[in-house]
Amino acid sequence: MAEHLDIAQGTKAEKYATLFPQIEAVVSAEKDIIANMANVAAMIHETFGFWWTGFYRVIDNELVLGPFQGPLACTRIRKGKGVCGTAWAQEATQVVPDVDQFPGHIACSSASRSEIVVPVFSSSEVIAVLDIDSAELNTFDTIDQEWLEKIAALIAK
Ligand code: SME
Repeated sequence: MAEHLDIAQGTKAEKYATLFPQIEAVVSAEKDIIANMANVAAMIHETFGFWWTGFYRVIDNELVLGPFQGPLACTRIRKGKGVCGTAWAQEATQVVPDVDQFPGHIACSSASRSEIVVPVFSSSEVIAVLDIDSAELNTFDTIDQEWLEKIAALIAK
């Protein structure tokens, strides 16, 4: 297995297309979900240079901070709260072009301007969310959603 990440070049879609098989290889070589979340957060973060990339895990009916890259973050989020808790409650990806327009957005960092949160399912239950914050507005669209949902599906395997 490659010990380093060859940073993907090109358009966003091309970057995801290059990154995805690398993530697939890393995740299939390891069964511990925390180790895999740690590497997946690192690979996404390094490829795109996002502000914050990480996971919250569902533990005792709360989201608890998991492996991440970026600045210090809130440690616990209740179901239905913020973008993360909404993705969990609705069992659906949330694409937020402007966090200031999202009612109840939890500002872990004032630098975060847009966000995407993708649920991680195991046996049709949400076991975690993948949360990515950008320091710019309108960073995320259906291309991110499509690829990040595919990446989230690898995590739970
Ligand atoms: N903004 C998130 C909280 C987590 S931080 O962005 C890392 C939310 O509203 O759920």
